[in-house]
Amino acid sequence: MALDVVILAAGQGSRMRSALPKVLHTLAGRPLLAHVIDSARQLGAGQIHLVVGHGGEQVEQRFAAADVNCVWQREQKGTGHAVAQALPALGNSGTTLVLYGDVPLIQSATLQQLLALVSNQQMGLLTVDLPDPTGYGRIVRDGSGQVCAIVEHKDADAGQRAIREVNTGILAVPTERLQQWLPQLSANNAQGEYYLTDVIAMAVADGLNVATIQPASAQEVEGVNTRMQLAALERAYQQQIARRLMEQGVSLADPARIDVRGELQIAQDCYIDINVIFEGKVVVETGVQIEANCIIRDSILRAGCHIKANSVLEEAEVGADCDVGPFARLRPGTQLLAGARIGNFVETKNVVIGVGSKVNHLSYIGDARVGDDVNIGAGTITCNYDGVNKHQTVIGSGAFVGSNTALVAPVSVGSGATVGAGSTITRDVDDNTLVVARGRQIPIPGWQRPVKKAKE
Ligand code: UD1
Ligand code: CA
Repeated sequence: MALDVVILAAGQGSRMRSALPKVLHTLAGRPLLAHVIDSARQLGAGQIHLVVGHGGEQVEQRFAAADVNCVWQREQKGTGHAVAQALPALGNSGTTLVLYGDVPLIQSATLQQLLALVSNQQMGLLTVDLPDPTGYGRIVRDGSGQVCAIVEHKDADAGQRAIREVNTGILAVPTERLQQWLPQLSANNAQGEYYLTDVIAMAVADGLNVATIQPASAQEVEGVNTRMQLAALERAYQQQIARRLMEQGVSLADPARIDVRGELQIAQDCYIDINVIFEGKVVVETGVQIEANCIIRDSILRAGCHIKANSVLEEAEVGADCDVGPFARLRPGTQLLAGARIGNFVETKNVVIGVGSKVNHLSYIGDARVGDDVNIGAGTITCNYDGVNKHQTVIGSGAFVGSNTALVAPVSVGSGATVGAGSTITRDVDDNTLVVARGRQIPIPGWQRPVKKAKE
């Protein structure tokens, strides 16, 4: 059956105190609205309708996609008015699901249960019991426990305010009914708004049953109104991820000190120390160890590799059993083959480092291909940039590059070659050859140091 999803995202979110529209604030590194759209997509929504208003241009731009239709609500006259703006774009049959752009943790499993309730005779409403229901719409049930209405807090009497079951705002209805009901809403209430919640009483009047379910956890339906709430939801979300990782067989030094902002695919028996941040798409194979304070972005860590403390990786692939860090920086395009080693204060970019090769200290290796079993001494620099263009350095297998060497690209060092320490290499070095390219050491025996002149 066709599914239209309407996501309300027109509100100002004034309590965020921000120039950025609320739904563009991020949770786990992605806009709140991106999380909601993901859930909608997981349900197989035919069309996703975003109702935009405040900051609508930015929202529209950020989420332009074939299955996303932006509908403008120029003036915010209530949730019913917001959904009504999408009516012309909805199908004539099928189901419409209403979500909020500022309720990011809603799970598609919960929404699936909600959608399963919808039929010609029935609509679905997601409710939750709250210890403090202040501010929310209350779920009013009749003597037999059937839902008969939602009453907004500001319109509720003392008896209704005592009800702790509240409206989450998320509901699913036959689209045909919504087409009938929304034009009949009135703004005759305490806030002078068109309430979407008034369709509940209309449904009951039309003989439909209002079936309810509750989410597995109240966090799923928590909205973001303030930066405090956003930070609290972020922690809740990270805790969920940490729990899931541990269930999968990953050890965490402290489940409260890991942040996953993106998609982390990780195998069993990995160990993650404190304050590690994963961003974007990261794949970690079995037996990997990551020490404290590492940032791993869009990277692949092959089995058994060891990332030592304070290393920063971006778009890098670390081969099996490699050692990286501490204090290493692997920039985009770095590929370390099995058993390679990158030590402290080494920066790499757009390089392949061959099997078992070592760059252990204080080096910059960029735009280079390094063969297998190469040893690159401390302080070696590839001079890859001439101020205009980038050039390649090629180092053959088994080469030994002495400390403090400058490799002025384009240049190649042959396999088995040895470069003397302190060399500035400007021409290609043949295989199995020793080159020394530095000023000769000139001894001057008996040379006298200048002495301080006596004051006159
Ligand atoms: C609404 C519900 C209330 C429920 C609560 C849950 C109504 C009348 N009330 O309350 O029963 O308990 O949500 O949080 O539906 N929005 C628009 N356009 C508008 C108004 C709102 O897009 O004209 C969007 C907001 O950006 C927000 C969502 O709809 O994402 C909810 O709006 P909000 O003002 O927070 O809801 P309430 O009226 O407080
Ligand atoms: Ca609200």
